[in-house]
Amino acid sequence: MFSAYFNGAFVTCDEPVIPIDERGHQFGDGVYEVIRVYNGQPFMLDEHIERLYQSAAAIKLCVDSDQDTLKDSIWNLIHKSGLSSLDLYVQITRGIAPRNHLFPERPVSISMTAKPFRHISSVGEKGAGVTLHPDERWENCYIKSLNLLPNILAKQTAHEKGFLEAVLVRNGKVTEGTSSNVFIVQDSSIITTPLSKHILSGITRMAVKSIAEDAGIPLIERHFSPEEMIQSDELFITSTTLEIMPIYWVDNHLISEGKKGTVTRVIQELFDRRK
Ligand code: PDD
Repeated sequence: MFSAYFNGAFVTCDEPVIPIDERGHQFGDGVYEVIRVYNGQPFMLDEHIERLYQSAAAIKLCVDSDQDTLKDSIWNLIHKSGLSSLDLYVQITRGIAPRNHLFPERPVSISMTAKPFRHISSVGEKGAGVTLHPDERWENCYIKSLNLLPNILAKQTAHEKGFLEAVLVRNGKVTEGTSSNVFIVQDSSIITTPLSKHILSGITRMAVKSIAEDAGIPLIERHFSPEEMIQSDELFITSTTLEIMPIYWVDNHLISEGKKGTVTRVIQELFDRRK
């Protein structure tokens, strides 16, 4: 069974197919997507592919294969993996060329992996928590770039404190998590940070917006402070891999009395029905 793909070849994950001069390896010069596949069906595939091409365009990376050709390769890898529930990782870089900061005239590289996923429904006995962390990233966080150093440093700090995620704060306002979007609930309304260059337009965030609209739950896109987050009635974070994850701790502050709130429960149930 093949679990990976590199520039047209289906391979196994441990095959050494990427040369040292690959610009993803040398510079992190590329963009990526993480797509979850439920029962053989990629969740919101078109939205992921659209975002991938938007990220590529934002770093002036001209992808030579069109969206349909890439989708065909994705479907091929899903079939060749023999898995029905998996996480598919797609990475597009500025190709293979001797190390030089300037753009090469070579075609891009496309690589993918397909791996089974483990659904995380809750974390530990106390439930999942987050720590507040300064947002030390660049100005263009709407691009799903391979450069994740500030994200991994903040996430590692969270992990070392016993938390699932670090919630990033820029100019006194919450932006997002290191690999998730953040939602608070106040008086039965959902509040989430508005889209800007400072956050990723999450595909799960998009799903939550549509679910809230269908369910008649008000969803307001506005900035909020860490203090507002600590005082919220409910708090949850979203991503392709965490789906809808209730959060009960912000550092040492308990949220929602440590129990899943009604709004979070409804959003989670309706999300599960769309999978
Ligand atoms: N991360 N914000 C950031 C910075 C992210 O990296 C992610 C996803 C999200 C949520 O986006 P989505 O709902 O489309 O997964 C928000 C993926 C899962 C990752 O890097 O592994």
